[in-house]
Amino acid sequence: MPLNRRTLIAASLSITFILAPLTSVFAASPAPAKGEHGMVVTAQHLASEVGIEVLKKGGNAVDAAVAVGYALAVVYPNAGNIGGGGFMTIRFKDGKSTFLDFRERAPLAATKTMYLDKDGNPVKGASLDGYLAVGVPGSVAGFEMAREKYGKLSRQDLMAPAIGYAKDGFILNQGDAASFASSADRLAKDPAAAAIFLKPDGKPYGIGERLVQSDLAASLAAISEKGPDAFYKGAIADAIVKASGAKGGILVKPDFEQYAVRELKPVTCLYRGYEITSSPPPSSGGVIICEILNVLEGYPLSYLGAGSAETVHVMVEAMRYAYVDRNSALGDPDFVDNPVSKLLDKAYAKDIRDKIDPFRAGVSQDLMPKGFGESKETTHYSIIDNDGNAVAVTYTLNGSFGAGVVADGTGILLNNEMDDFTQKPGVPNLYGLVQGEANAIQPKKTPLSSMSPTVVAKDGKPFMVIGSPGGSRIITITLEAIVNVIDHDMNIQEAIDAPRIHHQWLPDKLYVEPFGLSPDTEKLLAGMGYHLDLADQTWGQAAGILVGGKSLAEIEKGGGARYNGAIDSRAASGEALGY
Ligand code: DON
Repeated sequence: MPLNRRTLIAASLSITFILAPLTSVFAASPAPAKGEHGMVVTAQHLASEVGIEVLKKGGNAVDAAVAVGYALAVVYPNAGNIGGGGFMTIRFKDGKSTFLDFRERAPLAATKTMYLDKDGNPVKGASLDGYLAVGVPGSVAGFEMAREKYGKLSRQDLMAPAIGYAKDGFILNQGDAASFASSADRLAKDPAAAAIFLKPDGKPYGIGERLVQSDLAASLAAISEKGPDAFYKGAIADAIVKASGAKGGILVKPDFEQYAVRELKPVTCLYRGYEITSSPPPSSGGVIICEILNVLEGYPLSYLGAGSAETVHVMVEAMRYAYVDRNSALGDPDFVDNPVSKLLDKAYAKDIRDKIDPFRAGVSQDLMPKGFGESKETTHYSIIDNDGNAVAVTYTLNGSFGAGVVADGTGILLNNEMDDFTQKPGVPNLYGLVQGEANAIQPKKTPLSSMSPTVVAKDGKPFMVIGSPGGSRIITITLEAIVNVIDHDMNIQEAIDAPRIHHQWLPDKLYVEPFGLSPDTEKLLAGMGYHLDLADQTWGQAAGILVGGKSLAEIEKGGGARYNGAIDSRAASGEALGY
């Protein structure tokens, strides 16, 4: 267990015969879910059940991930999808790992300036709403590659639960109903989307009501029967291309025919002896998490304490430097030479530490690179099986319900991932990210992502599976969960529930979740020069698993459940299920 203020205080108090361990006194989160054979953590409880059933039937973690991916497309349509894309990080039982990139690609007819008007200014909403915002979807191709290469069960077996929930419907709980209600106005704009997701009276479905998606059931059944060709080469692509052409989009059939999944080497780094395996470009996630961790390794975070002004200061400064690199240097590896080894170099991290003033906030404008002229929904799920295969998947439509459009007859919501590109250097996107040329639009290019499906290992064994939605904040959400477990000895549920902070270089603001810092800490940080933005809403929905105990302390005592799962308390319909 790391020596920190809490353990020191616990030690000193136990001398004065206060017997209750302080760790439980401060535990504000429910206990993590326990399992001995497998664990599935997703943002929708029915999808978690689908995953667990696949594991019980003899499927491995990849099979469960594919079945969950299809199930979420039905029971969590604000983010779960087959009309979007995502990433899968796999760490196999033998310690090898791989990464599947099934994120969207820009259409062949895309141009660098496609979202700008004649004066060169971004057209409001053009990269977010309707068919022009849609990137070529990758989820179906990605799930099939994962299943064929690394799964054990048939496509029909893995897709059957999703088809069932689409055909027969499912009953909405409070969290499900809230997500539909928050996007009702948007869904009303597209008649095909409204016909599925809104009741005949135009109102969203409420708690206890059943949502049936017959067209989606038919599309899924066609994919189940004929494979991805039903999506990329058949009637589904035809219907999307037709609707796109009729409604201002630029998608053509070759966009679909030429879509290919990329299998890439994940980014890896060592943090205090823990091996992090995460997303490589076209995600910025793994690289930037590692860059920040490398900087933080030089500070005694455990001693400085969770949420102290000193800890927040060094974390924010590390974030500030790393997001400059994210926003200026990274892009699709088929188009851009990403300086990954430089950014992952421990010496580079030391250079950054040397520049951090121990007593003052940095100034983002001072870090502007020379010549530098992302509510929303994504979802993350974490799975581990009896053999120790660990799978982390983050996939998305980008904004909540994506572009808000469904091609007639398909039942498939389409993404608005094109907004993740740089529309114009210096102009912020949906997530306030100010990005550069490396992420400019080009045909077939993939927009830079922040999605960070991550597996952490220790001594050659899986230790943690983690990730989250949250746009540009995914990186800091995932990072903070890792640091909370490794440095602050929180259990996996506490680590995920703990209040979050975020800084992304520009705007030069320190975002703090409600009640995230004490007023005294806020004053200290403001005195150091920070511009605090005290948010009135939380962000992220992390899904995590810890192996061998619910916390580092329990693991080190050798006394915990094998698998410990936690869904973010912020995820209203999620569930961690073990068996
Ligand atoms: O790939 C990305 O970085 C974004 N499209 C993710 C969007 C997201 O997390 C929205 N959810 N809250």
